[in-house]
Amino acid sequence: MAVALVVAAGRGERLGTERPKAFVMLGGRPMLQWSLDALHAVDAVRRIVVALPPGVHAPAGTLGVPGGAERSQSVRAALRAAGDDDDVVLVHDAARPLVTAQLVQDCLHALATHDCDAAIAAARVTDTIKESDGDEVVRTLDRANLWAVQTPQVFDRAALERALSRDDAELAAATDDASLVERDGGTVRVVSAPRENLKVTTPFDLRLAELLLAAR
Ligand code: CTP
Ligand code: MG
Repeated sequence: MAVALVVAAGRGERLGTERPKAFVMLGGRPMLQWSLDALHAVDAVRRIVVALPPGVHAPAGTLGVPGGAERSQSVRAALRAAGDDDDVVLVHDAARPLVTAQLVQDCLHALATHDCDAAIAAARVTDTIKESDGDEVVRTLDRANLWAVQTPQVFDRAALERALSRDDAELAAATDDASLVERDGGTVRVVSAPRENLKVTTPFDLRLAELLLAAR
């Protein structure tokens, strides 16, 4: 069985709204609620812990914890509150409201059926990606092997605990949790995910999410 950690404690500075991003209204409800519904629909997810901004109450059916100053600290705070009954820990950003129960199940299934420490949602890159030194191109990467990484990310609990037991500076520098598992020598598997599972970062993304949810 799995426990899900949903990080929702960010301010959403790039979105530029007054209330914290996860609580901005999207399709008539707070953004966070879309992710919670997808997680509640998966039987293997027994409990949901949500890292929250100051002064915000936990949504129904979840355990709330105060988030940290950085995303990674919010993940760590949620993991601490999660207890140790579950061998599998799922981490999800509330900023990805288009997550589906199917994608959650696909990630859990990948971890359960392969010899790996983590299974992470990711979409194949469709743009050609070049690396530059300033404005000068240094190389063109082989797109066939490139993935744009998303959440959910599911972990063997021990691997995630080890990954998060770093000092705050190193933790804060990591843009996802799986990269820390990689650094520990762990095996991380990608799970093919739709590009629709976008991250709401800017007002453009919010508009796109609204249109995609309305078309469901
Ligand atoms: N998050 C968190 N605690 C933090 C920072 C971020 O729980 N201290 C969460 C956000 O709520 C979001 C996810 O981590 O669901 C991904 O972060 P991001 O998209 O960067 O959201 P914000 O930090 O809120 O946005 P911004 O960086 O524009 O302020
Ligand atoms: Mg942020």
